[in-house]
Amino acid sequence: MTAEFVRLEVADGVGTIRLDRPKAMNAISLQVQDELRAAAAEATERSDVRAVVVWGGEKVFAAGNDVKEMATMSYTDMVDRVDALQGAVNAVARIPKPVVAAVNGYALGGGCELALAADLRFAADNAVLGQPEVLLGIIPGAGGTQRLPRLVGPSRAKDLLFSGRFVKAEEALAIGLVDRVLPAAEVYTEALAWAGRFATAAPYALRAIKESVDRGSESDLETGLQIERQAFAAVFATEDSRTGMRSFIDNGPGKATFDGR
Ligand code: CAA
Repeated sequence: MTAEFVRLEVADGVGTIRLDRPKAMNAISLQVQDELRAAAAEATERSDVRAVVVWGGEKVFAAGNDVKEMATMSYTDMVDRVDALQGAVNAVARIPKPVVAAVNGYALGGGCELALAADLRFAADNAVLGQPEVLLGIIPGAGGTQRLPRLVGPSRAKDLLFSGRFVKAEEALAIGLVDRVLPAAEVYTEALAWAGRFATAAPYALRAIKESVDRGSESDLETGLQIERQAFAAVFATEDSRTGMRSFIDNGPGKATFDGR
């Protein structure tokens, strides 16, 4: 089935998960959720994708889940659907490669939660982020009550979640909600450049770093250190670890050419 609103575009080792539903401000409908999950799975599986940019185009990242669609749903409808809703965003969070969100315009509700699933967030100077669900009488359902406090701390997260207020790019940078603020025309190209650095890096080392950081930060320190020890020993099984250390000894730092195995 051809995706209508979310596609994976691949060039030079970088996959762009592109949301493209402009008439509804990229609102994340059930169909968009399914297509997002499929695009994340494809980015995970394809070996020619070494890093990922999530982008909603030049005008808007995503204005949240589709309120018009959600308004028709009952409690039991949502019980049946909420795993798939979270699963779409989790599929992006679990891509075992570096992932950056390039945010132009609004990233609200489910859109902000999608950005939170990336490893880093680059924001346009016109970006506006927030979790306005409470203003609809609901709460975030795609990880916002969990990933936002882990990123910015519980007090700041509760301020945003309780009020539903919008956060402009500069404040988002100050509280650590985004990592860089850039002129709007440069956000996507800078995100591509950041991701492109990993096209020739050692993919299994990147994967081990990401899984160690993510699983470790979901654990106590001792468990996290155990995860790191196992991952550290495991990368010694890769050809890239032989290549990288031999290249250092022969030619000095940072000159290795990796095969990705
Ligand atoms: N769902 C469905 N449609 C949406 C939408 C959304 N989240 N956001 C915007 N749209 C639609 C509008 O209804 C409008 O459609 P029509 O042209 O058919 O009327 C169109 O996009 C343009 O929107 P506006 O006219 O409102 O544009 P604006 O520039 O005045 O305002 C906005 C833009 C501030 C983003 C405003 O549209 C807005 O507040 N949107 C809703 C934001 C929101 O509440 N998001 C959270 C959703 S709940 C959620 O995401 C749950 C979760 O955690 C999983």
